[in-house]
Amino acid sequence: MTQISVFGLGPVGLVTAVCFARKGNQVIGIDPDRDRLEKIREAEAPFFEPKLKEYLTDTIAKGTFSVADDSSVNMRSDLAYIAVGTPSSEDGSVDLTYVRNAAVAIGQSLRETTQYQLVVVKSTVIPGTARTLVKPVLERESGKPAGKGFGLCSNPEFLREGNAVRDAELPDRIVIGGEDVDAMTRLGNFYKEFHGETTPPVIRTTHESAEVIKYANNAFLAMKVSFINTIANVAERTPNADVKAIAEGIGLDERIGSKFLNAGLGWGGSCFPKDLKALIRYSKTLDYDPEMIEAVVATNEKQKQRAVQLAKLALGSLKGKRIAILGLAFKPETDDMREAVSIPLIRGFLTEGANVVAYDPAAMQNAKAIFRDRITYASDPCGCLDQADCCIIATEWDEFKTVAPRVFLERMRRPVVIDGRRIYSADEFSSEGIRFSGIGLGPRVC
Ligand SMILES: NC(=O)c1ccc[n+]([C@@H]2O[C@H](COP(=O)([O-])OP(=O)(O)OC[C@H]3O[C@@H](n4cnc5c(N)ncnc54)[C@H](O)[C@@H]3O)[C@@H](O)[C@H]2O)c1
Repeated sequence: MTQISVFGLGPVGLVTAVCFARKGNQVIGIDPDRDRLEKIREAEAPFFEPKLKEYLTDTIAKGTFSVADDSSVNMRSDLAYIAVGTPSSEDGSVDLTYVRNAAVAIGQSLRETTQYQLVVVKSTVIPGTARTLVKPVLERESGKPAGKGFGLCSNPEFLREGNAVRDAELPDRIVIGGEDVDAMTRLGNFYKEFHGETTPPVIRTTHESAEVIKYANNAFLAMKVSFINTIANVAERTPNADVKAIAEGIGLDERIGSKFLNAGLGWGGSCFPKDLKALIRYSKTLDYDPEMIEAVVATNEKQKQRAVQLAKLALGSLKGKRIAILGLAFKPETDDMREAVSIPLIRGFLTEGANVVAYDPAAMQNAKAIFRDRITYASDPCGCLDQADCCIIATEWDEFKTVAPRVFLERMRRPVVIDGRRIYSADEFSSEGIRFSGIGLGPRVC
């Protein structure tokens, strides 16, 4: 049993903490957000994430997980994870304030103990952060040299919101960065014990390579999506072409792989946008223009408005038209709307003078905080369609997949459906008399 503290109880920190606690480790989560802590103490998940409530209930009942806003409790831990947020600053660089604050708090608590502690940076940070920021802060605040009173490793996280518990328990690989062999071995051994027979490959490298791996990983995935969206735009202008068939055709090539080849309205979320911005900004500080990454971002910005363009093609002027948006979260199985594509999409429709009605199975509360009374909110997918002139599928929730074409026909004023996530069969919808278009679906001439 390992005593662990986790600084930051967002999707990464909280999921990591409860997964560690579920295996019998004694875990304490530290976060200054008292409302969040109150919810967690009641075993309420502060955000929507499958399995999280079950894991919280279980670990709180067993007494293996607890939370605090006082970081001094950290001094009893063997392992201290930094899993705080690293948002974008105005200029696109990474705001490392929370990482610095967490390092200060950990360092100060280490000053009060003689116990060795392994500090692990799980937050996504620009290359050099562990070595040139976290380490000196820990040394200064603890009064101890790295390697003696404490160890330091970089350990970027790759979990996906909506699948976070599974990803934390069964990761594809573990990346451990550092310069202190003993610290890296300790962390490797902890993960070996935690994962047992399912321990994935472990990459041991420098802090900096570990930090770049995380950015490169997200940039590559975003590039795949922007790539297939580019091909989707070609397909839309090619009679009888369909990007779905094209994606299947290239995805079966082992060198390419089928994942992240779903054409749609673009990527968003809490990570890709800020991480790509950070990578671009970091590269520029090195006097290097990462033109390819910039093109990935620019392609995505345009793609977010594609559904507005398709709606205009179908309806002409959008002024006064009622647009139903199905899906607001940046992806299914989450209520997270950080940088969700639905936000610029809805703003695009509002700019055209349209009236927007929206529905999402999980993100309604977050959407209301963003759009307030500028749009209306439906309480289910069918209600969202009532009297609509056009419906946009903006997030591929399973709940939408089972809505039959008949429902669109019966509920909508004009049955125009733009499938921004390609969840429906174009043939089925068209044969019911619905004007159906989808991302990457070419004009049908036969
Ligand atoms: N969300 C994801 O899917 C994901 C996936 C992989 C990696 N990451 C990275 O992991 C990190 C955390 O992401 P997130 O989405 O969980 O963050 P988040 O911003 O949602 O949550 C961070 C939490 O840290 C807390 N916090 C701030 N300062 C603190 C301090 N000094 N001590 C303790 N807690 C503090 C905040 O109150 C907040 O609850 C980021 O660097 C992110 O880029 C996120």
